[in-house]
Amino acid sequence: MRNFIPLVALVSCCAVSVSAAVSCTVTAAGAGKDDAPALLAAVQACPTTIIPTGTTLNISTRLDMTGLSNKEIKLQGTIRFNPNIPYWSGNGFSYPFQTQVTFWQLGGSNLRIDGGGTLDGAGQAWYDAFNKNSSLLRPILLTIYKAQNVVIEGINMINSPEWFNFVNEGTGITYNLLNLSAVSTSKNLAKNTDGWDIYRSDSVTITNCNINNGDDCVAFKPNATNILVNNLLCNGSHGISVGSLGQYPGVYDIVENVVASNIRISNAENGARVKAWAGKNVGSGIVKNVTFSGFTQTNNANPVIIDQCYETSASACSQYPSNTYINGVTFNGMVGTSSKKAAGSLLCSPDNRCANVAVNNFNLTYVKKGNLTYTCQNVALTGNAASLFGTCTTT
Ligand SMILES: *[C@@H]1O[C@H](CO)[C@@H](O)[C@H](O)[C@H]1NC(C)=O
Ligand SMILES: *[C@@H]1O[C@H](CO)[C@@H](O)[C@H](O)[C@H]1NC(C)=O
Ligand SMILES: *[C@@H]1O[C@H](CO)[C@@H](O)[C@H](O)[C@H]1NC(C)=O
Ligand SMILES: *[C@@H]1O[C@H](CO)[C@@H](O)[C@H](O)[C@H]1NC(C)=O
Ligand SMILES: *[C@@H]1O[C@H](CO)[C@@H](O)[C@H](O)[C@H]1NC(C)=O
Ligand SMILES: *[C@@H]1O[C@H](CO)[C@@H](O)[C@H](O)[C@H]1NC(C)=O
Ligand SMILES: *[C@@H]1O[C@H](CO)[C@@H](O)[C@H](O)[C@H]1NC(C)=O
Ligand SMILES: *[C@@H]1O[C@H](CO)[C@@H](O)[C@H](O)[C@H]1NC(C)=O
Repeated sequence: MRNFIPLVALVSCCAVSVSAAVSCTVTAAGAGKDDAPALLAAVQACPTTIIPTGTTLNISTRLDMTGLSNKEIKLQGTIRFNPNIPYWSGNGFSYPFQTQVTFWQLGGSNLRIDGGGTLDGAGQAWYDAFNKNSSLLRPILLTIYKAQNVVIEGINMINSPEWFNFVNEGTGITYNLLNLSAVSTSKNLAKNTDGWDIYRSDSVTITNCNINNGDDCVAFKPNATNILVNNLLCNGSHGISVGSLGQYPGVYDIVENVVASNIRISNAENGARVKAWAGKNVGSGIVKNVTFSGFTQTNNANPVIIDQCYETSASACSQYPSNTYINGVTFNGMVGTSSKKAAGSLLCSPDNRCANVAVNNFNLTYVKKGNLTYTCQNVALTGNAASLFGTCTTT
């Protein structure tokens, strides 16, 4: 327990008293003011920054917190990103990968965010604006960028304009005990609100989280390796997805050593999914040693899916099959209900682009009357659920 906690009064772009300070407390400057400079100054100056319960910081300018070391942000109150769309449209941090932008980039080593509070992306204005302008770039709520040893634990994240969490070029990144929720209150859906996208990162764990969103619950993007996802409750999502991979010409994408286990997933477009691009001008890659295990699925449209013709027409896919190969994917323990009759679709590109795919312990039922159907193509399935798929077609 610390007995010396200097409370630093931070107004606008104030100085922070640093000497001997072990923690800084940041409170809101008041209506109409931007609290970003005070938050940035506090995090620079102090090992621990506290945003107390009852405080809502109004963040109106971008937060660059890269290159830090040994910092904790105790988020007990709320950090809310002011939805000033014209400002963010020119001023978010941008990444070439899938043309992403973000409000906040956090990087460096030995960093923690905890405290039980809330990150609020004020997404409603964005969901409504995106409905009118589909080229609007909506910011990611929190990007961990070029970081090692980061823990994000025990906070809530609400109404992200787009992806909630982007892990970009990190190692040793842990997310635990988080609640994520993006819900639109208008007819315009909270689109592309992925829970996590992991990119060019190694040793990432996501455990014990509750997600209610409108796109992938978790996505393993190019060069996500050694990832553990365990005990998630996903609702309304597009599933736990590998990919999409092999999108960019000349780029080689690797997803390797991934486990997603103990997942309860409901009302989703997909359950466990692998998606890779095919076609003329795309990239290449490999999906290796990926296990989806213990999925309790409720009312999901495609509980089990491999799509090696992602975003590619059937004719282009047969002319230019995917150069993202698949070697070693296990679907184990897929139980619950499918909202569509076609519950499993493992459609691979030909010529051994898909190998070592195992299906075990399936017990899915159709939400309506009748039996489910399972299809496969260009893959020799193993495992005790292989018979459900019958003989795979070849093309
Ligand atoms: C947040 O800060 C901006 C910029 O100073 C201001 O325009 C806006 O009114 C503030 N919002 C709140 C809720 O205080
Ligand atoms: C739509 O958003 C894009 C990207 O932010 C912007 O360049 C364009 O001006 C916007 N279009 C309209 C009609 O607002
Ligand atoms: C997340 O939600 C659960 C269930 O509603 C709740 O028990 C938990 O306290 C929440 N976590 C935070 C950080 O508020
Ligand atoms: C779960 O998702 C469905 C479909 O998006 C939604 O209608 C429902 O309200 C969500 N349930 C919860 C508890 O958020
Ligand atoms: C993935 O890693 C491989 C091997 O290091 C590298 O060749 C490739 O360019 C990386 N791909 C991406 C998308 O970073
Ligand atoms: C497959 O991935 C898991 C999880 O990362 C790892 O424990 C295991 O050693 C990997 N297997 C091989 C053969 O690399
Ligand atoms: C399959 O699931 C149903 C409930 O959905 C259950 O009654 C049945 O015992 C399960 N079968 C097996 C083999 O586990
Ligand atoms: C459903 O599957 C069961 C068990 O394989 C079979 O006995 C039954 O005839 C099937 N029902 C229909 C409508 O095909």
